[in-house]
Amino acid sequence: MSQHIYAHEHPESESDRGGGFTLWFTGLSGSGKTTIAHHVGPELDRRGLVVEYLDGDTVRTHLSRGLGFSKEDRDAHIERLGWVASRVTRHGGAVIVAAISPYEQARANARALVEEHGPFVEVYVRTSVEECARRDVNGLYAKAFAGEIKGFTGVDDPYEEPPAPEIVVDTEGVEPEESAAAVIAKLEEMGLVPAKVAA
Ligand code: ADX
Repeated sequence: MSQHIYAHEHPESESDRGGGFTLWFTGLSGSGKTTIAHHVGPELDRRGLVVEYLDGDTVRTHLSRGLGFSKEDRDAHIERLGWVASRVTRHGGAVIVAAISPYEQARANARALVEEHGPFVEVYVRTSVEECARRDVNGLYAKAFAGEIKGFTGVDDPYEEPPAPEIVVDTEGVEPEESAAAVIAKLEEMGLVPAKVAA
């Protein structure tokens, strides 16, 4: 796949390879960000893109090790994710970030960093707190509602809905594969991903 077909113009940064972008999943814990991301990534790979994942939970075990869930710590964590995403975007990678990223300003800052080098595509995984709590994959909502965990997003800590995400995904009654297909379709429409080549 020839790189220049999908190249974007960034005259201020001549070292950009073009073709890179960041796909940023935001939403509550348990909303389905990581699950959908892991259906999108392999498809991007099949279409010839170089894919890197920055999952909030994973990054918190190294680059953001030691950071907690205060607003200050979350903001620092999101800034780190945004910074790494911008560097990889600059080199033509397709970066997939999955992090609650509950604060609009922090997401806007990450967007600004990335947009120096390529598109920032925000995907709001809009699963309600009721549904996330019903799924309660790791039992954290039960603890948060019982007051055993303080400052849990959506329970007693804020989640600021993105005012203008590029993509909104509703997951209730929708399979993750379907949500991933909707994301890919949008990326195709935006000219960021080559259309599937017929076999
Ligand atoms: S973010 O707010 O800083 O973007 P991130 O996505 O990295 O969060 O990590 C969220 C994960 O940490 C959740 O899925 C959950 O498993 C865990 N977690 C632990 N404490 C909290 C809390 N107080 N609020 C939200 N998530 C928490």
